This record gives sequence, structure tokens and C-alpha cells, in this order.
Amino acid sequence: MNWTKKDLLEIKDLTKDEILLILETAESFKEISLREIKKVPTLRGKTVITLFYEPSTRTRTSFEIAAKRLSADTINISASTSSFVKGETLKDTGKNLESMKPDVIIIRHSMPGAPHILARTLKSSIINAGDGAHEHPTQALLDLFTIKEKKGKIDGLKIVIIGDIMHSRVARSNIFALKQFDTEIVCCGPATMIPPYIEKLGIAVEYNINRAVKDADVVMMLRIQKERGRISYIPSIREYAILYGLKKAHLEKAKKDVIVMHPGPMNRGVEISDEVADGEYSVILDQVENGVAVRMAILYLLTGREQ
Ligand code: CP
Repeated sequence: MNWTKKDLLEIKDLTKDEILLILETAESFKEISLREIKKVPTLRGKTVITLFYEPSTRTRTSFEIAAKRLSADTINISASTSSFVKGETLKDTGKNLESMKPDVIIIRHSMPGAPHILARTLKSSIINAGDGAHEHPTQALLDLFTIKEKKGKIDGLKIVIIGDIMHSRVARSNIFALKQFDTEIVCCGPATMIPPYIEKLGIAVEYNINRAVKDADVVMMLRIQKERGRISYIPSIREYAILYGLKKAHLEKAKKDVIVMHPGPMNRGVEISDEVADGEYSVILDQVENGVAVRMAILYLLTGREQ
């Protein structure tokens, strides 16, 4: 199949075939990062802008590395050092950037729908690198890639998502992506952090972490977002760590070859213990490594799409 979409805004937009196309394309790009000379000319002459209104380590760096490995020119803009601080609107910023003829603009914003505004306004391809609590599609795609790489398949797996489902764009994107496959999804967390849409989607909810992880193939931990005031949804961080922090003992109930995922950044000792984060089941750094290949695939498909 050929890629036809101008933008990558949300997983909800994608068909299963489109998800599989991204994963297959990423497989072919992964090997480039293992070469001595980590560069191919595929996107020579293309210009990629990252426009980040929120902090990021993994997403921004891996998009920049992905673009550079494909020989695109990259420009990074942080809101804090842009004319946003002088009051420029998102639309005006987008139109001004487009005047300089970029091919792709990658945006992270605290406002859900911010990438959609740019996509409607601009001719450049827009990639959502996280919009508020709405979606983080490229994270879900790299998570699926990692699951497929480690398990050899996605269908037939029990995947447990634990933490603040309510406010997590990573959880939303992963749930919409995993729903396209024949997976058993279980969400686990305090009742205040489980949104009503979960049960409407027919996804199981379990409030006890021991029961949730039983026979799990994949355990996906979510970050408590202290910077967004999410700790007001729980009595205390200490209690949350006791009830929902993943410890090695929990994994004895999971499948023997369970993998533990976390999108990062981690709150060690809160949602995940050191022994799990750094332990034998953790694929957290593999997720980061795979983020480069998946983002190379996305840049390649969007810029080479059929008009
Ligand atoms: N997973 C993720 O989005 O990490 P960053 O916030 O560091 O980009």
C-alpha cells in the first residue's frame, strides 16, 4: 500500500494497514543507525522544523536524529526562545515558518488540537509530537514496534497499562493503536485516574495491580505527571507508589517472558522501582532506540506521499 496522508495527527486517524506500513518501513530503517556512517541521502533537500511548546528529551532528539540520518536539514524551535513569549499566536507562528518553505513541522503543545490547527492552516506536513492529554501518536507507534520486535507479534497478547490513564496522551494513543489488533488490554490505576471512555471501549479495568499483571505479556507503565498537577487525583505520592508502583514481585505473576515498558521520563520509586526499570524485563531503552527508526519511517512516508 502507498501512504497518502499529508499529516500524522492522531492514531485514531490511521487504519491498521497504515500502522503496519509505518512499522514495516521502520524495520528497514533501523539498520541505518547501526552502521558506522549513520546517514542515507533519502531526504536530502527536505527541511524539517521541530516546534516544541513543552519540554522533551526523547521525542525532540529522536526526531532530529531521524531527520539528520535521512539527510534532511533540521531547525529546532523552543517556545521559550521564540516570539511566542512576545504574544505571537500559533497560527501566525505557523504561517511565518511556512513562508520559509519547510516540508515538515513537528509540534508539541499543551493544547489538545494544536497540531490540527497547523494542519488545517499550512501546506507543510504536520506531525503531532504530543498535544496536551489528547494523543502522542509517534510514541504509540514506537511502542507497537518494540512489542512486535520483542514478541514477534502484537495479536494475541495481554497488555496491561498502569497509572494515570485519564491524563495520559501515551495511553490514549496506545489504546487506539492496540484496539486495531487482536489484543487483550487491561487498564489499571486509581479510580480517579481511569476515564469513563475505557469501559465504553470495552476495555477491562482492574484496580488491583497484582490481579492486573497476572499472565501479562506486556506491562506498560505511565508517568505521574507532577508538572500538570495530577497528584491532586491521589491521596499522596507515597500511597500511589505503594499501591501502583511496579516492583519485581509483581512480575512473578506475569508471563515468564513479560516485557516492561515506560515512555519516559520515569519517576523512579513512584510508578516504577529501580530494580524493574533497570532489570531483565525492561525494554525502556529499546523503546528509545526504536523511536529513531519509527520517526525516520514517518518522515519518509509523509514527505514521499502520493499527492
Ligand atoms: N516519551 C516522551 O514523549 O518523552 P519526552 O517528553 O522526553 O519527549
